[in-house]
Amino acid sequence: TWAHVPMGPPDAILGVTEAFKKDTASHKINLGVGAYRDDKGKPYVLPSVLEAEKRITEKKMDKEYAPITGVASFTKLASQLAYGADSTDLKEGKIAATQSISGTGALRIAGAFYNKFYPNKTIYLPSPSWGNHTPIFKDSGLEVKSYRYYDKENISLDINGMIEDIKAAPEGSIILLHACAHNPTGVDPTEDQWRQISDAVKSRGHFVNFDAAYLGFASGNVDKDAFAIRHFIKEGHRIALCQSFAKNMGLYGERAGAFSVMCDSAEEAKKVDSQIKIIVRAMYSNPPIHGARLVSEVLGDEKLNQQWLGEVKGMADRIISMRTQLKNHLEELGSKHDWSHITSQIGMFCFTGLKPEQVERLMKERSVYLTKDGRISVAGISSDNVKYLAESIHHVTKD
Ligand code: LMR
Repeated sequence: TWAHVPMGPPDAILGVTEAFKKDTASHKINLGVGAYRDDKGKPYVLPSVLEAEKRITEKKMDKEYAPITGVASFTKLASQLAYGADSTDLKEGKIAATQSISGTGALRIAGAFYNKFYPNKTIYLPSPSWGNHTPIFKDSGLEVKSYRYYDKENISLDINGMIEDIKAAPEGSIILLHACAHNPTGVDPTEDQWRQISDAVKSRGHFVNFDAAYLGFASGNVDKDAFAIRHFIKEGHRIALCQSFAKNMGLYGERAGAFSVMCDSAEEAKKVDSQIKIIVRAMYSNPPIHGARLVSEVLGDEKLNQQWLGEVKGMADRIISMRTQLKNHLEELGSKHDWSHITSQIGMFCFTGLKPEQVERLMKERSVYLTKDGRISVAGISSDNVKYLAESIHHVTKD
């Protein structure tokens, strides 16, 4: 029956982990998937999350189904985190929010919602963007196009190209923006550039969908990382937002995320909410409860919330220190390349500029695993492997 089914290619990001697992070298390093590791290279469960888990266990909560749009305290707190606790739109009930199967699920609901209800079916992604964006939106039935984002030559934001492309897109297109810590490049617009982008989007009446998977990870400060979202709203944009708690709360496998849509009135938000429910019910009925409860417990308790903010900052700081060490080691080794972008880029990833054949050599000759586009997850670097990594990068880039 299935003889005609062709073999699919491994996933560009998760396939790297599969290859890494097969490697038997003891010095192997996985810098593929964006998953935080502590300085011993071990997965990190945040102490604030462990405390929340303890409290939840003590409450002996039931395991009943969540409502279709998820745990209500979770969506409320997740929205407050992104839009600001003092957001008038939130207070007035103008934001329809649903829990989602982490960030991917939020994007998938977004795609389905736009395909059903947004008149223009084309979404513009930055070039490059997270590898899963294109498949998610294509599977949702949207047409996917791109706008210029990354300037390879200058290892910086191509702000002029980006503005030009946004202005050239047909009026009322959907524009996807990474709220902070752009994946894969680690290059974000400055606040002034965000203002220019907002103006360009407004001049064409486009609709913006923010993808916010790294709030807190760019600067260690959630409010600062939410600047773009809040600036757009202040400028009168009616945005939609996809959130993930995989990275900033270390809840990868718990799949805790949210999708929210800003509406013109509370009444409109109710109608949007009713349609989101219809979409979700047909896809997976209702979301898992445990991760959402953990997030609610952490965000909803003043003390735990403060503790969590300190822990996010700790993760962001360790990543920044690894960037500095990697760059220093490369310079000490006498590398003739300019590695300043390693420290100027922000967030979990560094877009090294390594070419596919160099990436291939890193994997084969040095057991260093990363995605083909030259992105490394800095979170996978530790005090123990940073020198070996620098030597390995030098090894493949020196001639
Ligand atoms: C990544 O970009 O590595 C992460 O967002 C994990 C994933 O699912 O791809």
